Amino acid sequence: MKNVLIVSGHTDLSDSVVNKLVLEEVKKLIPEAEIDRLDELYPDFKIDAKAEQAKLEKADIVVLQFPLFWYSAPSILHRWLEQTFLHGWSHGSTGDKLKGKKVIISLTSGAPEEFYHSYGAAGHEIKDFIQPLISSVTMCQMEYAGFLYTGGVSYQARQDPDVLVQIKEKGLAHAVELVNMIKSL
Ligand SMILES: Cc1cc2nc3c(=O)[nH]c(=O)nc-3n(C[C@H](O)[C@H](O)[C@H](O)COP(=O)(O)O)c2cc1C
Repeated sequence: MKNVLIVSGHTDLSDSVVNKLVLEEVKKLIPEAEIDRLDELYPDFKIDAKAEQAKLEKADIVVLQFPLFWYSAPSILHRWLEQTFLHGWSHGSTGDKLKGKKVIISLTSGAPEEFYHSYGAAGHEIKDFIQPLISSVTMCQMEYAGFLYTGGVSYQARQDPDVLVQIKEKGLAHAVELVNMIKSL
């Protein structure tokens, strides 16, 4: 099995349903996967670049797992990217430490999936909102291996116990699909 690093970009997993479930399920199905909980490691947003670079250097497959916040990745994931992907390490004429590593982008959204279409209320496809991440990793010579997306898992909806059951089912299905994607690489 290849070395798998799951970078969790949720800012507070203690208040998460789906992302927490996805991380727990993936860990059950791929016990050797390393889960990088940024919220737990860096509540002060002071990213340990050397430690994060070491995890990335060991990995063959990197999963960026996060909830969509304001049509983007959460702030802590951006901070991680800014502090870890450094010129001369990940990019620039001598920066090749991420070259050839595969990346999967795995995300959830509160709005339902039909919201994220050119003809939907968002006016754009979900992949348009992750394009900056795709461009960043490909600029660092990583191999973008696709994205996995589950919508309709909002904080409001989970207040209804019946909907919460459905949300958890979606989370489990997302985790199984993610594991299939990882194992196919
Ligand atoms: C600060 C914040 C911003 C959010 N912005 C969006 C958004 O732009 N689009 C959207 O569909 N959902 C948005 N949501 C909803 C989250 O994406 C949703 O609650 C999350 O995917 C659920 O995952 P979890 O159970 O792991 O927390 C936002 C939630 C928060 C807390």
